[in-house]
Amino acid sequence: MKTLHPMQVLRIPVVIAMLLGVSGLSAQTREEDTGPTYTDQGELNLPEHYREWVYLSSGFDMSYNPMMRMGHHMFDNVFVDPRAYRRFQETGTWPDKTVLVMEVRGATGKGSINRLGQYQSTEQMGLEVHVKDEGRFPGRWAFFGFDGGKSAQMIPATAGCYTCHQAHGAVDTTFVQFYPTLIPLAGALGTLSKNYLKDEGSSVSTERRAILGTPAPHPPAVTPPPN
Ligand code: HEC
Repeated sequence: MKTLHPMQVLRIPVVIAMLLGVSGLSAQTREEDTGPTYTDQGELNLPEHYREWVYLSSGFDMSYNPMMRMGHHMFDNVFVDPRAYRRFQETGTWPDKTVLVMEVRGATGKGSINRLGQYQSTEQMGLEVHVKDEGRFPGRWAFFGFDGGKSAQMIPATAGCYTCHQAHGAVDTTFVQFYPTLIPLAGALGTLSKNYLKDEGSSVSTERRAILGTPAPHPPAVTPPPN
């Protein structure tokens, strides 16, 4: 039997590695390729590299309750894994294994040369994750709240998170109406949820309907041209 020279043995994996472009693989084999991963106890692993994902939007002091006064300002930043973002561009909705991250940060006005307005502080106040994993969750989607740890338990399906997202999210229980690069796409591709369209109701202007691509429930009567 022909024996391989030690150098040949060494070279084979090197050549394979070069063919596969393995040098960059370790950096690329991340959540965006694997989708969500879970611990043996069924907790969601923290998607550690979400800051390298696609940025969707930031909310500032957003609240559903007009009476809410927090006594401090807050930003939230929403990110999605790049694979899901690309699929959304084609389909107007989220593929299975989509991971969306909402990072909540404190706001501050005092610092450096700033005199007016607010910017984001280094203080992270929360990290919430919305995962679509159809084979795993009966409701297809699940929420997780990270409290500084590397993994988090699923927030029970009875929590208010699910109710509000289901009742008001523009696309598939997500708040696409607040993500400016996505809402026109969802309108054009006809993926807006019934609940969202009901929320928008007849108060939506004709112009906005044109942007959203949804027909008015009562089209204006056509007046015959004067003769
Ligand atoms: C009363 C309505 C409401 C409730 C309750 C609610 N959310 Fe949301 N959620 C929103 C809105 C509005 C946004 C969009 C925020 C933005 O534009 O920055 C959002 C966005 C998110 C996102 C970003 C991805 C997406 O789905 O659009 C996550 C993650 C999220 N919420 C997690 C949670 C969790 C976890 C809970 C429960 C602890 C919760 N939410 C409860 C209204 C709600």
